[in-house]
Amino acid sequence: MSFNRRHFLAAAAAGAAAQSVVVGQSTAPRIPTAMIGVGNRGSHVMKGVLEQPNAAVVALCDIKPDRLDAAASAAAKDQPKTYKDWRAVIDRKDIEAVFIATPPYLHSEMAVAALQAGKHVYCEKPIGITASQVRDVVKAAKNSKKVFMVGQQLRSFTQLQEAIAKIRGGVIGNVLMVNAQRHASQDLSHDGSSADWYFDVDKSGGYLIEQSVHNLDACNWVVGEHPTKASGFGGTLLYKNDPPGRNIYDCNVLSYEYPSGAKMSFTLNVFHPPGMPGGNQYIHAFGSKGAVDLMYSTNMYKLNTKDEPVVLAAKRDEAPHGHTTAFYDCITKNAKNPADIVVGASGALTAIMGHLAMTKQSVVSWSDLGVAL
Ligand SMILES: NC(=O)c1ccc[n+]([C@@H]2O[C@H](COP(=O)([O-])OP(=O)(O)OC[C@H]3O[C@@H](n4cnc5c(N)ncnc54)[C@H](O)[C@@H]3O)[C@@H](O)[C@H]2O)c1
Repeated sequence: MSFNRRHFLAAAAAGAAAQSVVVGQSTAPRIPTAMIGVGNRGSHVMKGVLEQPNAAVVALCDIKPDRLDAAASAAAKDQPKTYKDWRAVIDRKDIEAVFIATPPYLHSEMAVAALQAGKHVYCEKPIGITASQVRDVVKAAKNSKKVFMVGQQLRSFTQLQEAIAKIRGGVIGNVLMVNAQRHASQDLSHDGSSADWYFDVDKSGGYLIEQSVHNLDACNWVVGEHPTKASGFGGTLLYKNDPPGRNIYDCNVLSYEYPSGAKMSFTLNVFHPPGMPGGNQYIHAFGSKGAVDLMYSTNMYKLNTKDEPVVLAAKRDEAPHGHTTAFYDCITKNAKNPADIVVGASGALTAIMGHLAMTKQSVVSWSDLGVAL
């Protein structure tokens, strides 16, 4: 494997990148930042890091030379050093912030090591694919004084923040039931950028844990707590052994119960025909005074009237890298963390509880997971 020599030479000259650079007319400190995993997601998030006036991308790590090369080109202005070994990145004392965007089964080990080394950590979702992995990250984050943020970026969408604040404020009364789904019109690409890990449940966790953690976390946000019980069924009904060796489900039907008594139903599939109504993702929250249609609108319908819906929060263009900006705001301005360890852990554990319910074919309780938040 030959890495791009141009970037190695540039990086060697740069060494530890400057921690202070001229931004506009002023000299602002820039937080030395490392990116571990620069595939599909990592390279996208890195664009957001490069846009931050208070960040410098000083290290890039990936085991795939082509991805490392492409990222080094994209981040050339900051002259990052490139690495194949993520531990060498964590060992660098000058690095203050680490982004982790590797396949999910690697997150906990990398996040724990980065936290223990005193770094601020932005970890892609899910923070772990087993309860014990989540437990390890929770312990390390709670023992750290640094910022830990999970890449559940819906938490930084200002329209959802405004609408959900109104739901939590009582606009639909008590939330009694949530009905949500994540349906896709096709399976993840069988030869795409993540096909070498995605279809192995021990690496991705499957669609529920890897993707639907976003949706389940949003349901928890709407209800205002995490569920305590899960039951349900799942299977590989269409894409049996396709791609060969696949052991992740293509369809899930789940039920959850919350401490308040609220119920949530969630379905997932990857075979919803594109033209068929009712596809894609939604969260319908039903309360004692009305219901809200979330995700593509924030329309609220009052109970027992045929009134036009009330828009809870106007549609707007969200900042494409708002969650990344929020991470640096937590570090530099002590801003409130929209997706802290409790959000990351409870989202992942909600998905893991559902996954266990399907694989064990029994009701699984939150207390069975053995993670204190
Ligand atoms: N927040 C979101 O909306 C969102 C969207 C997509 C993906 N993700 C998450 O981002 C993560 C990565 O997904 P992706 O789609 O970018 O996958 P990907 O396969 O495109 O990228 C993962 C990268 O990690 C690298 N990698 C694997 N093992 C490594 C190691 N030991 N050390 C360093 N690098 C290593 C791979 O070579 C690859 O380049 C997943 O956890 C996924 O759930 C989040």
